Amino acid sequence: MMNTEIKRMDSSHIKALSEIEKECFSTPWSENALGDELNNGFSRFFVAECNGAVAGYIGAHSILGEVYITNVAVSEAFRRKGIAEKLIKTLVEFCENEGMEFVTLEVRRSNKAAKKLYAKMGFREVGERKDFYENPREDAILMTYKR
Ligand SMILES: CC(C)(COP(=O)(O)OP(=O)(O)OC[C@H]1O[C@@H](n2cnc3c(N)ncnc32)[C@H](O)[C@@H]1OP(=O)(O)O)[C@@H](O)C(=O)NCCC(=O)NCCS
Repeated sequence: MMNTEIKRMDSSHIKALSEIEKECFSTPWSENALGDELNNGFSRFFVAECNGAVAGYIGAHSILGEVYITNVAVSEAFRRKGIAEKLIKTLVEFCENEGMEFVTLEVRRSNKAAKKLYAKMGFREVGERKDFYENPREDAILMTYKR
């Protein structure tokens, strides 16, 4: 049985999360970048632990009622088990309790899995940002969720 727990990110998670970043992204966040989020009052970062192993995480900044998701990643071995869904739910509920009005994020136009995930969680496509990403260069689709 897989037991998934969602926790606030702390210093014990940073090393494993930087490995997940390298696995998932062409321009991964470093340990330093992740560690800085521990000292940022706007940060709302949550980690999924599966049977004690760090499996994935979600990161966001919450500023004056607007929540901006900066990172969502689940390690390959743990995908399609509902972990990303659980992470998004936890973040949104936590921020709704703090008075959040809406959530925004960008996603690569070609990232079908992520777009489907966000649509399932109630996010809608509201625009695009031309050439937003590098390595490879690609447009971003802008999506929002309103409470
Ligand atoms: C996108 C990602 C975070 C999904 O994580 P996950 O834990 O596997 O997702 P979940 O199991 O919670 O899936 C929830 C829903 O998302 C959609 N989804 C997830 N992966 C999918 C895939 N490979 N193909 C199609 N739909 C997918 C499905 O609708 C799924 O619901 P279902 O299983 O009932 O069909 C993961 O694939 C990942 O880390 N990818 C690399 C990094 C990335 O692209 N991050 C997003 C950047 S914006």
